[in-house]
Amino acid sequence: METVLTIRNLSKHYGRIKAVDDLSLEVKRGNIFGILGPNGSGKTTTLGMILDVINPTNGDYLWFGEKPDKNVRKKIGAILEHPIFYPYLTAVQNLKIVCDIKEVSYDRIPEVIDQVGLDERKDTKYTTFSLGMKQRLAIASALLCDPIVMLLDEPTNGLDPQGIAEIRELIVEIANSGKTILLASHLLDEVQKVCTHFAVLRRGKLIHTGLVDDVSKGDRMIEVKAKVDNLQEVLEKSGMSSKVKRELDKYIMTMQGDYSSEDVNQYLFENNITASHLLLKTRSLEQQFLEILADKEGGNG
Ligand SMILES: Nc1ncnc2c1ncn2[C@@H]1O[C@H](COP(=O)(O)OP(=O)(O)OP(=O)(O)O)[C@@H](O)[C@H]1O
Ligand SMILES: [Mg+2]
Repeated sequence: METVLTIRNLSKHYGRIKAVDDLSLEVKRGNIFGILGPNGSGKTTTLGMILDVINPTNGDYLWFGEKPDKNVRKKIGAILEHPIFYPYLTAVQNLKIVCDIKEVSYDRIPEVIDQVGLDERKDTKYTTFSLGMKQRLAIASALLCDPIVMLLDEPTNGLDPQGIAEIRELIVEIANSGKTILLASHLLDEVQKVCTHFAVLRRGKLIHTGLVDDVSKGDRMIEVKAKVDNLQEVLEKSGMSSKVKRELDKYIMTMQGDYSSEDVNQYLFENNITASHLLLKTRSLEQQFLEILADKEGGNG
């Protein structure tokens, strides 16, 4: 599958604050890719850098395998901050101004108005729009130059539940029409409902990337206690786990493959170790993310 965006070791530091810290990721064509993280984790800074409005401290990125230039940027539609429209002009009049700036034919306007479902309000003034309609108009404006990729930063912020559902539906429709979408959100629920792939940022660092479908799947972990000095080493040598971590008086094995607690017990027995405690636990990615997202410390300043 064609790679749309490659981010390589991208960092943005503001003095001591590492807004984005050594971030690498890839977005493939057709992905609805979520960047998930709590407030201050670096989502907007990341989008700002790949849109060339924020200068990276380190690292770089490629769009469609190329260094960004003006032609490449035309393939990218973005809604970063709340877009500015003229309050006393209608939806159509505002879009004409955007067409002029982007050098796009006015013929596109009816299409995008239809796509975002604003037909009935296309000739009313922007001031009379609800927040949801304003967001639709912003999306319409980003669609004008028929971009290959759409970047959306917290597209449902401030909307009521119905508005949220409608915008999410619209995003999925846009994706189904063949566009790649990169969406920043602090809501796990939003990423789960809209995205196919996602990356989790915490204090500027990438801490997870994968398929949204895997979120409900969990890591299997086994807690082990035994009165021997080299338990960690023995457990690490078992080849049954990807990681062994000490937690107070016990060791936690993150299991790989289908190894069970019986297998661990058998293995310890063969090594002349008697376990005083052996417990299988699962902790879903979802639980882990909710803990991360509840991390109110936010950035790192
Ligand atoms: N211009 C700036 N000067 C100094 N620090 C900044 C600047 N812009 C962002 N930061 C800091 O960088 C970190 C990341 O901010 P960013 O806006 O990228 O986070 P975010 O994930 O988009 O957060 P939110 O969910 O609140 O939108 C924060 O600690 C923020 O305070
Ligand atoms: Mg942000």
